[in-house]
Amino acid sequence: MSKIRILDKEFAVSISRETIDIAVRNVAGKMNHDLLGKDVVFLGVLNGSFMFIADLMRYVNIPCEISFIKVASYSGTQSSGVIRDLIGLNENMTGRCVVVVEDIVDTGETLEYLLTKLKDLHPAEVYVATCLFKPAAFRKEFKVDYCGMEIPNDFIVGYGLDYNGYGRNLPEIYTLVKS
Ligand code: IMP
Ligand code: MG
Repeated sequence: MSKIRILDKEFAVSISRETIDIAVRNVAGKMNHDLLGKDVVFLGVLNGSFMFIADLMRYVNIPCEISFIKVASYSGTQSSGVIRDLIGLNENMTGRCVVVVEDIVDTGETLEYLLTKLKDLHPAEVYVATCLFKPAAFRKEFKVDYCGMEIPNDFIVGYGLDYNGYGRNLPEIYTLVKS
């Protein structure tokens, strides 16, 4: 199915299963090469990264730990905007090699917050891995160490990404059809 409707919007397939799989294997191959011999913890950022990290870990063959965190956003009591909270960071990170695994890096806002929180836990190294990256939307300074695919600054769903909570289960990536 090349076109679908989610709630009030129409989306068309933009990245196939095959293309996604090649990108995932590529990232895993680099990790297997770079991270061998390190004390690696992969930290998946929920909800969006669940599908990417599951596929990625099938191709990662170095010893590692896999864990998940969630960044909860909610309106604060101050007018300054959104207050975030980090849930599930239970593992010991001290002196370890932490690889944060995201579905997508857009403005970089979420990851910048997360990286700041992580550094307080004194890991030896922190790497950023993302399935998708929108370079035209990125506004931060940190380095994206592992990137599956660079995409245009359009709204997408599928492969873990949602539109108002729906569409995460789609195995391909779909782009919003502008009306
Ligand atoms: P950032 O903080 O702007 O980098 O945005 C990160 C988060 O926004 C991602 O982890 C996604 O959950 C969400 N996001 C960004 N772009 C898209 C998109 O095109 N479709 C669905 N969710 C997106
Ligand atoms: Mg996300």
